[in-house]
Amino acid sequence: MSGAARTVPPALRRARDVVGPALRDALDGLAPEVRRVVGYHFGFLDADGRPSSGDGGKSVRPALALLSAEAVRSPGQVAVPGAVAVELIHNFSLLHDDVMDHDLERRHRPTAWALFGVGQAIVTGDALMVLAQELLTEHSSPERSRASRALGRATAAMIAGQAEDLSFESRLDVSVEECSRMIANKTGALLSCAASIGAILGGADEVTVGALADFGLHLGLAFQAVDDILGMWGHPEVTGKPVASDLRAHKKTLPVVAALATSGSDRDRLFELLSDGAMSEEKLALAARLVERCGGRARTQTEAEHKLAEALDALGRVPLEPSARGELQEIAEFVTARDF
Ligand code: IPE
Ligand code: IPE
Ligand code: MG
Ligand code: MG
Repeated sequence: MSGAARTVPPALRRARDVVGPALRDALDGLAPEVRRVVGYHFGFLDADGRPSSGDGGKSVRPALALLSAEAVRSPGQVAVPGAVAVELIHNFSLLHDDVMDHDLERRHRPTAWALFGVGQAIVTGDALMVLAQELLTEHSSPERSRASRALGRATAAMIAGQAEDLSFESRLDVSVEECSRMIANKTGALLSCAASIGAILGGADEVTVGALADFGLHLGLAFQAVDDILGMWGHPEVTGKPVASDLRAHKKTLPVVAALATSGSDRDRLFELLSDGAMSEEKLALAARLVERCGGRARTQTEAEHKLAEALDALGRVPLEPSARGELQEIAEFVTARDF
């Protein structure tokens, strides 16, 4: 793990300080029946319901939301409802994603469904989704309505992407283009919304909002490429998530799809392994080696770097407040170099 990868941009800590209390307030208003699972998932409570200071996530989306307001010379404060709403949708997606992916660990602890059951994880995710929209619609203004529509569109795209991700598990002929479209939906749409919702709430024009949204979309593609690399070759003690579970679930991640698009004996052996139902630990390790030998890891890393460059190009299209622009760039570089 490199030193650069471990240097967390100050904007992420600032987002936790600024958005954290508003997020806690919003969560406190939820029905008591779901607050225990919510508190556990966000790291406020331990498995027994006692106060805790667990890992609540990196706060990438709230940081993007705050900076997108500052980038259009609005106070970060106008972005807070948007930042909270986007983080709620993100956490709704994680609660359901771990059920769908059968994953047992996230943020260095057992997943909510593994501890409280599938039903509790589903209903808690549902509660977060509804709360997100409530936050943006409780006080009406043209900016809030526009932000709520943007968040609704991003949520629908994320759900479509999750459905595509699941449907790819039973296919071996997923193309790199199909995979990229799925990623743009499942991860890109919400990052795009996060990176523009503060500008929307600050009343920015379409062109500026569009450039920030494009920045977030490209960043989302880089983000997921790195996530897929970490899911195969990362260290669970650093990522807080299991390794090889994507392969076990026959996920068509970018490294796998890129490897399957090559030709040769390693590719054919990989195809054969992935055609089997359940894979042993040995076969999972072999599959990861074959993906690497076929160039799937290198191609995914290159894709992450291309998408980072495209994200930064989009940021350069419009005039933005220089220090916020610099911090957006810093987050983009961090996301692409991270090891967790
Ligand atoms: C994980 O997102 C889900 C993906 C889109 C890959 P993050 O890595 O931002 O999750 P937290 O909030 O920091 O745990
Ligand atoms: C990321 O899903 C996108 C969403 C959760 C919507 P993944 O399944 O790739 O993410 P992790 O690796 O479990 O966080
Ligand atoms: Mg997952
Ligand atoms: Mg998933």
